[in-house]
Amino acid sequence: MNPVKVGLLGLGTVGGGTVNVLKRNAAEIARRAGRGIEIIHAAARDLDKPRICDTTGIKLTTDPNEVVNNPDVEIIIELIGGDGLARTMVTQAIEQGKHVVTANKALIAKHGNEIFALAQQKGVMVAFEAAVAGGIPIIKAIREGLAGNDIQWLAGIINGTGNFILTEMRDKGRDFDDVLKEAQALGYAEADPTFDVEGIDAAHKLTILASIAFGIPLQFEKTFTEGITTISREDVAYAEELGYRIKHLGVARHTEKGIELRVHPTLIPERRLIANVDGVKNAVLVMGDAVGPTLYYGAGAGAEPTASAVVADLVDVVRALTSDPENRVPHLAFQADALANDPILPMEEVETAYYLRMAAQDKPGVMARVTSILGDHEISIEAIIQKEPVAEGEFANVIMLTHKVQEKQMNQAIAKIEALDSINGPVKRIRMEVLDSNK
Ligand code: HSE
Repeated sequence: MNPVKVGLLGLGTVGGGTVNVLKRNAAEIARRAGRGIEIIHAAARDLDKPRICDTTGIKLTTDPNEVVNNPDVEIIIELIGGDGLARTMVTQAIEQGKHVVTANKALIAKHGNEIFALAQQKGVMVAFEAAVAGGIPIIKAIREGLAGNDIQWLAGIINGTGNFILTEMRDKGRDFDDVLKEAQALGYAEADPTFDVEGIDAAHKLTILASIAFGIPLQFEKTFTEGITTISREDVAYAEELGYRIKHLGVARHTEKGIELRVHPTLIPERRLIANVDGVKNAVLVMGDAVGPTLYYGAGAGAEPTASAVVADLVDVVRALTSDPENRVPHLAFQADALANDPILPMEEVETAYYLRMAAQDKPGVMARVTSILGDHEISIEAIIQKEPVAEGEFANVIMLTHKVQEKQMNQAIAKIEALDSINGPVKRIRMEVLDSNK
Protein backbone atom coordinates (compact mmCIF):
# COMPACT_ATOMS: atom_id res chain seq x y z
CA MET A 1 0.00 0.00 0.00
CA ASN A 2 1.22 3.53 -0.77
CA PRO A 3 2.42 5.62 2.15
CA VAL A 4 -0.04 8.15 3.56
CA LYS A 5 0.95 11.64 2.45
CA VAL A 6 1.14 14.28 5.11
CA GLY A 7 1.52 18.08 5.08
CA LEU A 8 3.35 19.86 7.89
CA LEU A 9 2.68 23.41 9.02
CA GLY A 10 5.57 24.70 11.14
CA LEU A 11 9.16 23.51 11.05
CA GLY A 12 10.32 24.76 14.45
CA THR A 13 11.31 22.69 17.47
CA VAL A 14 8.40 20.21 17.38
CA GLY A 15 8.16 20.21 13.56
CA GLY A 16 11.86 19.38 13.26
CA GLY A 17 11.51 16.67 15.91
CA THR A 18 8.55 15.17 14.05
CA VAL A 19 10.48 14.98 10.76
CA ASN A 20 13.37 13.29 12.57
CA VAL A 21 11.25 10.74 14.45
CA LEU A 22 9.22 9.84 11.35
CA LYS A 23 12.41 9.25 9.35
CA ARG A 24 14.38 7.43 12.04
CA ASN A 25 11.55 5.09 13.05
CA ALA A 26 9.90 4.81 9.62
CA ALA A 27 9.96 1.00 9.50
CA GLU A 28 8.57 0.53 13.03
CA ILE A 29 5.91 3.17 12.43
CA ALA A 30 4.80 1.49 9.18
CA ARG A 31 4.60 -1.88 10.95
CA ARG A 32 2.28 -0.28 13.51
CA ALA A 33 0.16 1.86 11.20
CA GLY A 34 -0.12 -0.71 8.42
CA ARG A 35 1.25 1.88 5.93
CA GLY A 36 4.20 4.19 5.67
CA ILE A 37 3.71 7.81 6.71
CA GLU A 38 5.51 10.42 4.63
CA ILE A 39 5.71 14.19 4.98
CA ILE A 40 5.67 15.47 1.41
CA HIS A 41 5.04 19.19 1.83
CA ALA A 42 5.95 21.57 4.65
CA ALA A 43 5.50 25.27 5.38
CA ALA A 44 7.90 27.36 7.46
CA ARG A 45 7.96 31.09 8.12
CA ASP A 46 11.62 31.43 7.19
CA LEU A 47 13.13 28.89 4.78
CA ASP A 48 16.71 30.01 5.47
CA LYS A 49 16.60 29.38 9.21
CA PRO A 50 18.91 26.59 10.45
CA ARG A 51 16.90 23.44 11.23
CA ILE A 52 17.29 20.45 13.53
CA CYS A 53 16.07 18.13 10.76
CA ASP A 54 16.97 17.12 7.23
CA THR A 55 14.19 18.22 4.88
CA THR A 56 15.45 16.36 1.82
CA GLY A 57 12.50 15.05 -0.18
CA ILE A 58 10.03 17.48 1.40
CA LYS A 59 8.68 20.30 -0.76
CA LEU A 60 9.12 23.53 1.20
CA THR A 61 7.12 26.74 1.08
CA THR A 62 6.47 29.81 3.18
CA ASP A 63 2.77 29.66 2.37
CA PRO A 64 0.77 27.21 4.55
CA ASN A 65 -2.19 27.50 2.13
CA GLU A 66 -0.13 25.64 -0.46
CA VAL A 67 0.30 22.69 1.90
CA VAL A 68 -3.34 22.60 2.99
CA ASN A 69 -4.53 22.89 -0.64
CA ASN A 70 -2.14 20.23 -1.94
CA PRO A 71 -4.56 17.55 -3.28
CA ASP A 72 -2.11 14.74 -2.45
CA VAL A 73 -2.03 15.60 1.24
CA GLU A 74 -4.49 13.58 3.37
CA ILE A 75 -3.41 14.64 6.86
CA ILE A 76 -2.27 18.07 8.06
CA ILE A 77 0.03 18.41 11.06
CA GLU A 78 -0.49 21.87 12.55
CA LEU A 79 2.50 23.12 14.56
CA ILE A 80 2.13 26.85 13.92
CA GLY A 81 0.79 27.59 17.40
CA GLY A 82 -1.60 30.30 18.58
CA ASP A 83 -5.15 30.72 17.42
CA GLY A 84 -4.80 33.07 14.46
CA LEU A 85 -3.31 31.58 11.30
CA ALA A 86 -3.39 28.10 12.88
CA ARG A 87 -7.17 28.31 13.33
CA THR A 88 -7.69 29.42 9.73
CA MET A 89 -5.49 26.63 8.39
CA VAL A 90 -7.06 23.91 10.55
CA THR A 91 -10.57 25.02 9.60
CA GLN A 92 -9.59 25.11 5.92
CA ALA A 93 -8.08 21.61 6.13
CA ILE A 94 -11.21 20.19 7.81
CA GLU A 95 -13.45 21.91 5.23
CA GLN A 96 -11.47 20.06 2.57
CA GLY A 97 -12.04 16.73 4.33
CA LYS A 98 -8.46 16.42 5.62
CA HIS A 99 -7.61 14.97 9.02
CA VAL A 100 -5.66 17.14 11.43
CA VAL A 101 -3.01 16.39 14.04
CA THR A 102 -2.14 19.34 16.23
CA ALA A 103 0.00 20.19 19.26
CA ASN A 104 -1.88 23.46 19.68
CA LYS A 105 -3.36 23.66 23.17
CA ALA A 106 -4.49 27.29 22.82
CA LEU A 107 -6.40 26.45 19.67
CA ILE A 108 -8.13 23.41 21.17
CA ALA A 109 -8.85 25.02 24.55
CA LYS A 110 -10.33 28.18 23.01
CA HIS A 111 -11.90 26.95 19.76
CA GLY A 112 -12.06 23.16 20.16
CA ASN A 113 -15.87 23.05 20.49
CA GLU A 114 -16.36 24.59 17.02
CA ILE A 115 -13.43 22.70 15.50
CA PHE A 116 -14.73 19.32 16.70
CA ALA A 117 -18.29 20.11 15.57
CA LEU A 118 -16.99 20.94 12.09
CA ALA A 119 -14.76 17.85 12.04
CA GLN A 120 -17.70 15.66 13.00
CA GLN A 121 -19.80 17.20 10.24
CA LYS A 122 -17.02 16.51 7.70
CA GLY A 123 -16.24 13.03 9.07
CA VAL A 124 -12.58 13.81 9.83
CA MET A 125 -10.37 13.30 12.87
CA VAL A 126 -8.67 16.05 14.86
CA ALA A 127 -6.02 14.51 17.12
CA PHE A 128 -4.33 16.55 19.85
CA GLU A 129 -2.29 14.27 22.12
CA ALA A 130 0.75 16.56 21.82
CA ALA A 131 -1.27 19.53 23.11
CA VAL A 132 -1.11 18.33 26.72
CA ALA A 133 1.95 17.27 28.70
CA GLY A 134 4.30 16.87 25.71
CA GLY A 135 5.23 13.23 25.27
CA ILE A 136 3.00 11.76 28.00
CA PRO A 137 0.06 9.93 26.38
CA ILE A 138 -2.37 11.45 28.88
CA ILE A 139 -5.19 12.14 26.42
CA LYS A 140 -5.24 8.52 25.34
CA ALA A 141 -4.96 7.31 28.93
CA ILE A 142 -7.96 9.32 30.13
CA ARG A 143 -10.05 9.01 26.98
CA GLU A 144 -9.54 5.30 26.42
CA GLY A 145 -7.63 3.66 29.27
CA LEU A 146 -9.87 5.09 32.02
CA ALA A 147 -13.15 4.90 30.07
CA GLY A 148 -14.70 2.62 32.70
CA ASN A 149 -14.24 5.12 35.53
CA ASP A 150 -16.14 7.97 37.05
CA ILE A 151 -13.20 10.39 37.14
CA GLN A 152 -13.32 12.38 40.37
CA TRP A 153 -10.38 14.73 40.07
CA LEU A 154 -7.06 15.23 38.38
CA ALA A 155 -4.07 17.34 39.24
CA GLY A 156 -1.08 17.97 37.03
CA ILE A 157 2.23 19.67 36.61
CA ILE A 158 1.51 20.54 33.00
CA ASN A 159 3.95 23.29 32.16
CA GLY A 160 7.54 22.15 31.78
CA THR A 161 9.01 25.65 31.71
CA GLY A 162 7.36 26.63 35.00
CA ASN A 163 8.43 23.40 36.68
CA PHE A 164 11.98 23.84 35.39
CA ILE A 165 12.06 27.36 36.86
CA LEU A 166 10.69 26.31 40.27
CA THR A 167 13.09 23.37 40.44
CA GLU A 168 16.18 25.38 39.56
CA MET A 169 15.18 28.14 42.02
CA ARG A 170 14.75 25.60 44.80
CA ASP A 171 17.77 23.36 44.12
CA LYS A 172 20.33 25.83 42.87
CA GLY A 173 19.06 29.16 44.14
CA ARG A 174 19.06 30.42 40.57
CA ASP A 175 17.43 33.61 39.48
CA PHE A 176 13.95 33.40 37.87
CA ASP A 177 14.87 35.33 34.69
CA ASP A 178 18.09 33.42 34.18
CA VAL A 179 16.31 30.04 34.27
CA LEU A 180 13.55 31.32 31.99
CA LYS A 181 16.19 32.33 29.40
CA GLU A 182 17.63 28.82 29.52
CA ALA A 183 14.14 27.30 29.04
CA GLN A 184 13.67 29.53 25.99
CA ALA A 185 17.04 28.50 24.54
CA LEU A 186 16.12 24.82 25.03
CA GLY A 187 12.87 25.32 23.09
CA TYR A 188 10.61 24.59 26.10
CA ALA A 189 9.02 28.00 26.52
CA GLU A 190 6.08 29.39 24.58
CA ALA A 191 6.63 32.12 21.96
CA ASP A 192 5.33 34.48 24.66
CA PRO A 193 6.87 33.06 27.87
CA THR A 194 4.36 34.89 30.07
CA PHE A 195 2.00 32.10 28.96
CA ASP A 196 4.27 29.69 30.86
CA VAL A 197 4.91 31.69 34.02
CA GLU A 198 1.43 33.20 34.36
CA GLY A 199 -0.24 29.79 34.01
CA ILE A 200 -2.07 30.47 30.74
CA ASP A 201 -0.40 27.54 28.97
CA ALA A 202 -1.28 25.26 31.90
CA ALA A 203 -4.85 26.60 31.85
CA HIS A 204 -5.15 25.69 28.15
CA LYS A 205 -4.03 22.16 28.96
CA LEU A 206 -6.19 21.84 32.07
CA THR A 207 -9.25 22.94 30.10
CA ILE A 208 -8.63 20.07 27.67
CA LEU A 209 -7.99 17.51 30.41
CA ALA A 210 -11.15 18.47 32.32
CA SER A 211 -13.28 18.14 29.19
CA ILE A 212 -12.13 14.64 28.40
CA ALA A 213 -12.21 13.59 32.07
CA PHE A 214 -15.72 14.85 32.87
CA GLY A 215 -17.35 15.00 29.43
CA ILE A 216 -17.99 18.75 29.43
CA PRO A 217 -17.48 21.33 26.66
CA LEU A 218 -14.15 23.18 26.60
CA GLN A 219 -14.42 26.28 28.81
CA PHE A 220 -11.03 27.96 28.91
CA GLU A 221 -12.48 31.36 29.82
CA LYS A 222 -13.82 29.96 33.11
CA THR A 223 -10.49 28.49 34.25
CA PHE A 224 -8.98 30.30 37.24
CA THR A 225 -5.33 31.13 36.57
CA GLU A 226 -2.58 32.32 38.89
CA GLY A 227 1.10 32.32 37.90
CA ILE A 228 4.38 31.59 39.68
CA THR A 229 6.00 35.01 39.48
CA THR A 230 5.10 35.83 43.09
CA ILE A 231 6.67 32.67 44.53
CA SER A 232 9.70 33.64 46.59
CA ARG A 233 12.62 31.50 47.71
CA GLU A 234 11.48 32.28 51.25
CA ASP A 235 8.11 30.56 50.66
CA VAL A 236 9.82 27.60 49.02
CA ALA A 237 12.05 27.22 52.11
CA TYR A 238 9.20 27.58 54.66
CA ALA A 239 7.11 25.07 52.71
CA GLU A 240 10.02 22.59 52.86
CA GLU A 241 10.35 23.14 56.60
CA LEU A 242 6.70 22.15 56.97
CA GLY A 243 7.12 19.05 54.76
CA TYR A 244 5.71 20.46 51.54
CA ARG A 245 6.86 21.35 48.01
CA ILE A 246 5.46 24.22 45.96
CA LYS A 247 4.38 23.16 42.48
CA HIS A 248 2.43 24.98 39.80
CA LEU A 249 -0.59 22.70 39.56
CA GLY A 250 -3.60 22.49 37.33
CA VAL A 251 -6.48 21.01 39.34
CA ALA A 252 -9.86 19.87 38.01
CA ARG A 253 -12.34 18.37 40.45
CA HIS A 254 -15.90 17.13 39.96
CA THR A 255 -17.86 18.15 43.05
CA GLU A 256 -21.55 17.94 43.85
CA LYS A 257 -21.90 21.70 43.31
CA GLY A 258 -19.99 21.84 40.04
CA ILE A 259 -16.53 21.61 38.53
CA GLU A 260 -13.39 23.22 39.91
CA LEU A 261 -11.01 24.33 37.18
CA ARG A 262 -7.94 26.10 38.52
CA VAL A 263 -4.23 26.67 37.93
CA HIS A 264 -2.16 28.09 40.79
CA PRO A 265 1.00 27.52 42.82
CA THR A 266 0.17 24.77 45.30
CA LEU A 267 1.76 23.28 48.41
CA ILE A 268 1.70 19.49 48.21
CA PRO A 269 3.08 17.00 50.75
CA GLU A 270 6.67 16.20 49.82
CA ARG A 271 6.04 12.46 50.20
CA ARG A 272 3.71 12.42 47.19
CA LEU A 273 5.38 11.13 44.02
CA ILE A 274 4.13 14.16 42.10
CA ALA A 275 5.89 16.50 44.55
CA ASN A 276 9.17 15.01 43.32
CA VAL A 277 8.59 15.68 39.63
CA ASP A 278 11.35 18.10 38.76
CA GLY A 279 12.82 20.05 35.87
CA VAL A 280 11.00 20.09 32.55
CA LYS A 281 9.16 16.88 33.44
CA ASN A 282 5.36 16.87 33.66
CA ALA A 283 3.09 14.56 35.63
CA VAL A 284 -0.65 14.13 35.84
CA LEU A 285 -2.37 12.38 38.73
CA VAL A 286 -5.86 11.11 37.88
CA MET A 287 -8.33 9.72 40.40
CA GLY A 288 -10.87 7.27 39.01
CA ASP A 289 -13.52 5.65 41.22
CA ALA A 290 -12.65 2.15 40.03
CA VAL A 291 -8.91 2.31 39.47
CA GLY A 292 -7.99 4.73 42.29
CA PRO A 293 -5.11 7.14 41.77
CA THR A 294 -2.96 6.71 38.63
CA LEU A 295 0.08 8.83 37.81
CA TYR A 296 1.48 9.62 34.36
CA TYR A 297 4.99 11.04 34.15
CA GLY A 298 7.39 12.12 31.43
CA ALA A 299 8.88 14.95 29.39
CA GLY A 300 6.38 17.78 29.08
CA ALA A 301 8.16 19.75 26.36
CA GLY A 302 10.99 19.52 23.86
CA ALA A 303 11.42 18.45 20.26
CA GLU A 304 11.30 14.67 20.26
CA PRO A 305 9.11 14.06 23.33
CA THR A 306 6.40 16.23 21.76
CA ALA A 307 7.07 14.65 18.35
CA SER A 308 6.47 11.28 19.99
CA ALA A 309 2.88 12.36 20.71
CA VAL A 310 2.43 13.90 17.24
CA VAL A 311 3.57 10.68 15.56
CA ALA A 312 1.37 8.53 17.83
CA ASP A 313 -1.61 10.62 16.69
CA LEU A 314 -0.57 10.19 13.06
CA VAL A 315 -0.49 6.41 13.54
CA ASP A 316 -3.94 6.53 15.16
CA VAL A 317 -5.35 8.59 12.31
CA VAL A 318 -3.84 6.31 9.67
CA ARG A 319 -5.24 3.21 11.40
CA ALA A 320 -8.71 4.77 11.47
CA LEU A 321 -8.69 6.18 7.92
CA THR A 322 -11.02 3.51 6.62
CA SER A 323 -13.21 3.28 9.72
CA ASP A 324 -16.77 4.52 9.90
CA PRO A 325 -16.58 8.08 11.37
CA GLU A 326 -19.50 7.26 13.71
CA ASN A 327 -17.45 4.54 15.37
CA ARG A 328 -14.26 6.45 16.05
CA VAL A 329 -13.15 7.48 19.53
CA PRO A 330 -15.04 10.75 20.20
CA HIS A 331 -12.86 13.88 20.23
CA LEU A 332 -13.74 14.73 23.83
CA ALA A 333 -13.96 11.11 25.04
CA PHE A 334 -17.76 11.24 25.46
CA GLN A 335 -20.22 11.19 22.56
CA ALA A 336 -20.68 14.73 21.25
CA ASP A 337 -24.42 14.70 22.03
CA ALA A 338 -23.79 13.41 25.56
CA LEU A 339 -21.66 16.25 26.96
CA ALA A 340 -22.80 17.44 30.39
CA ASN A 341 -23.49 21.03 31.38
CA ASP A 342 -22.21 20.96 34.98
CA PRO A 343 -21.33 24.52 36.02
CA ILE A 344 -17.72 25.58 36.47
CA LEU A 345 -17.46 26.88 40.04
CA PRO A 346 -16.32 30.47 40.60
CA MET A 347 -13.06 30.49 42.57
CA GLU A 348 -14.77 32.04 45.61
CA GLU A 349 -16.79 28.84 46.00
CA VAL A 350 -13.78 26.51 45.82
CA GLU A 351 -12.61 24.94 49.07
CA THR A 352 -8.91 24.39 49.76
CA ALA A 353 -6.49 24.45 52.65
CA TYR A 354 -4.01 27.35 52.73
CA TYR A 355 -0.46 28.35 53.53
CA LEU A 356 -0.40 31.92 54.88
CA ARG A 357 2.65 34.08 55.53
CA MET A 358 2.48 37.46 57.16
CA ALA A 359 4.88 39.91 58.75
CA ALA A 360 3.66 40.56 62.31
CA GLN A 361 4.84 42.99 64.97
CA ASP A 362 6.59 41.06 67.70
CA LYS A 363 4.44 42.15 70.64
CA PRO A 364 1.76 40.63 72.90
CA GLY A 365 -1.75 40.17 71.51
CA VAL A 366 -0.92 40.22 67.79
CA MET A 367 -1.32 36.49 67.29
CA ALA A 368 -4.50 36.50 69.33
CA ARG A 369 -6.01 39.10 67.02
CA VAL A 370 -5.01 37.18 63.89
CA THR A 371 -6.32 33.85 65.17
CA SER A 372 -9.54 35.46 66.33
CA ILE A 373 -10.16 36.83 62.80
CA LEU A 374 -9.52 33.38 61.38
CA GLY A 375 -11.86 31.84 63.96
CA ASP A 376 -14.61 34.34 63.10
CA HIS A 377 -14.43 33.07 59.51
CA GLU A 378 -14.49 29.42 60.58
CA ILE A 379 -10.90 28.93 59.53
CA SER A 380 -9.16 26.31 61.59
CA ILE A 381 -5.35 26.38 61.94
CA GLU A 382 -3.41 23.17 61.37
CA ALA A 383 0.15 24.39 62.01
CA ILE A 384 1.85 27.63 62.90
CA ILE A 385 5.48 28.78 63.03
CA GLN A 386 6.86 32.13 64.03
CA LYS A 387 10.33 33.17 62.92
CA GLU A 388 12.60 35.36 65.01
CA PRO A 389 12.64 38.94 63.70
CA VAL A 390 15.91 39.66 61.87
CA ALA A 391 16.58 42.64 64.18
CA GLU A 392 14.96 44.10 67.27
CA GLY A 393 11.78 46.04 66.44
CA GLU A 394 11.52 44.29 63.06
CA PHE A 395 8.47 42.34 61.97
CA ALA A 396 8.48 38.56 62.46
CA ASN A 397 7.41 36.20 59.71
CA VAL A 398 4.46 34.08 60.83
CA ILE A 399 3.56 31.07 58.72
CA MET A 400 0.28 29.20 59.13
CA LEU A 401 -1.28 26.19 57.52
CA THR A 402 -5.07 26.06 57.68
CA HIS A 403 -7.67 23.37 57.21
CA LYS A 404 -9.98 23.54 54.19
CA VAL A 405 -12.19 26.59 53.88
CA GLN A 406 -14.13 28.30 51.12
CA GLU A 407 -12.03 30.86 49.23
CA LYS A 408 -14.66 33.55 49.93
CA GLN A 409 -14.17 33.13 53.69
CA MET A 410 -10.40 33.25 53.29
CA ASN A 411 -10.55 36.42 51.17
CA GLN A 412 -12.60 38.16 53.87
CA ALA A 413 -10.28 37.01 56.67
CA ILE A 414 -7.15 38.09 54.78
CA ALA A 415 -8.63 41.55 54.14
CA LYS A 416 -9.24 41.97 57.90
CA ILE A 417 -5.78 40.70 58.87
CA GLU A 418 -4.14 43.05 56.36
CA ALA A 419 -6.07 45.95 57.93
CA LEU A 420 -4.46 45.34 61.36
CA ASP A 421 -1.80 47.93 62.32
CA SER A 422 0.34 45.14 63.71
CA ILE A 423 0.55 43.37 60.32
CA ASN A 424 2.94 44.78 57.76
CA GLY A 425 2.14 44.49 54.04
CA PRO A 426 0.05 41.89 52.26
CA VAL A 427 -0.61 38.40 53.57
CA LYS A 428 0.92 35.84 51.23
CA ARG A 429 -1.46 32.99 50.46
CA ILE A 430 -0.69 29.74 48.64
CA ARG A 431 -3.35 27.08 48.28
CA MET A 432 -2.65 23.53 49.47
CA GLU A 433 -3.75 20.12 48.20
CA VAL A 434 -3.15 16.80 49.94
CA LEU A 435 -3.85 14.78 46.76
CA ASP A 436 -4.82 11.65 48.66
CA SER A 437 -7.36 9.05 47.58
CA ASN A 438 -10.35 11.02 48.87
CA LYS A 439 -12.80 12.92 46.68
N1 HSE B 1 5.80 25.82 26.93
C1 HSE B 1 5.26 24.53 27.16
C2 HSE B 1 5.86 23.98 28.45
C3 HSE B 1 5.60 23.63 26.01
O1 HSE B 1 6.86 24.53 28.93
O2 HSE B 1 5.33 23.04 29.00
C4 HSE B 1 4.85 22.34 26.01
O3 HSE B 1 3.48 22.53 25.89
